[in-house]
Amino acid sequence: MVWVFSIWMQSVKQVLSGEMLGKPVNVRGWVYRIRSSGSIIFAVVRDSSGIIQVTIKKGVVPEPDFEAAASTGIESSVTVEGTLAEDERAPGGYEVRAISFAVVGPSEPFPITEYQSTELLLDQRHLWIRSREQTAVMKVKDSMLRGARNWFHENDYVEVTPPIITGVSAEDSTTLFQLKYFDRFAYLSQSAQFYLESLIYSCDRVWSLTPSFRAEKSKTPRHLTEFWNLEMEAAWVDNEGNMKVQEELVSAMLRSVVEERSPELRLLGRDPAALEKIAPPFERMSYSEAMDELQEKGCDVLWGSDLGAVEERELTMDKEHPVFIVNYPKELKPFYMKENPEDARTYKNSDLLAPEGYGEIIGGSERETDNALIIERLKDVGESLDKYQWYIDLRKYGSVPHSGFGLGMERVVKWVCGLEHIRDAIPFPRTIARVYP
Ligand code: 4AD
Ligand code: MG
Repeated sequence: MVWVFSIWMQSVKQVLSGEMLGKPVNVRGWVYRIRSSGSIIFAVVRDSSGIIQVTIKKGVVPEPDFEAAASTGIESSVTVEGTLAEDERAPGGYEVRAISFAVVGPSEPFPITEYQSTELLLDQRHLWIRSREQTAVMKVKDSMLRGARNWFHENDYVEVTPPIITGVSAEDSTTLFQLKYFDRFAYLSQSAQFYLESLIYSCDRVWSLTPSFRAEKSKTPRHLTEFWNLEMEAAWVDNEGNMKVQEELVSAMLRSVVEERSPELRLLGRDPAALEKIAPPFERMSYSEAMDELQEKGCDVLWGSDLGAVEERELTMDKEHPVFIVNYPKELKPFYMKENPEDARTYKNSDLLAPEGYGEIIGGSERETDNALIIERLKDVGESLDKYQWYIDLRKYGSVPHSGFGLGMERVVKWVCGLEHIRDAIPFPRTIARVYP
């Protein structure tokens, strides 16, 4: 067989469009299902774009090709040449009637069969990611990332590349991953925020996509120890402006996914029309209002309690659109947020909660510009000022009001795809119990 890439470019999706009806087609992919009924073998072949039925008839294909098909199993990689025919019983309504069939890479009995335990699927993650659901999730993520990148580009943001190895804690210092860095210690980044803050003085508006690490000791369906953080920071933007950026960005990401991945959304049981309806402005509710609502609903919370998964679920279960919760009590949030001049117990910040009970997908705030307050708060939490000197410096040389946020990609994908667990929003999830595969 001659391997000329261009003639093998037909995807299953292109073949299923039916344009080649009655004409010769080539399919290459992996065996998804296969069964034989004597002199005819029915194989379903999948590639990234879909699945298609192939019939291999004794006497029509060369005998060695028939033998190869008869003895091959699921997940073997194959190439098929044949004619495209209509068949209403076949998935997608078409089948390829083979004139040749070759196994490129045979497959041992595949370790994943129907109804497997969650643990087995996680152990076999390197193989399980071939599933159609997992493929659909990865494609949804791909479109959302592209939607975000395009939106930032169209709105004059500069994509920057902050470090992953760092000496500071950007969030909760109890979830830092420490690493030995030659003769001292360093940490894996929890957030690129402080580096993005440094970059606005030259680039005005910046964004980055980096892995963020949190040594989360709890097992929850919404925490990973490694996740992809889409972060932005902009000069001359206050907390309200920051929320406008978030609602525009999220809506653009949703448009991109609905445009490009509606079949994948349907395969995952999601209605693209419901996502398409989501548009700015998103509802804004103060933390205090949220507390009142929770108390009315009978939740055991007091002003000052954190909003956990349960409370966020309660607040968003009946919503069809995301909602901002603004002005959290200072005790619940990190030191770098801007004090709220209208209520000094709170910050000018927001968490964006996804609808249908999915909860927090973005955390953001206006940043404190008063170095005295920053130093006081750092001291309060027992941080050494030396490590943060460079961050404090930023306010000494042409300080400006500025804001930013971090969007957890896997949290958003979990919501958009309707996943029960965040580990299915990333091909190789990292959790407290797992670094294999
Ligand atoms: O709310 P967080 O902790 O905010 C920050 O890191 C800010 N420094 C971001 C910024 O302003 N530049 O994290 C941001 C988002 C959360 O809203 C959530 O979506 C996600 O990151 N996230 C996680 N996702 C998965 N697993 C975890 N353990 C996560 N922790 C946060
Ligand atoms: Mg947060």
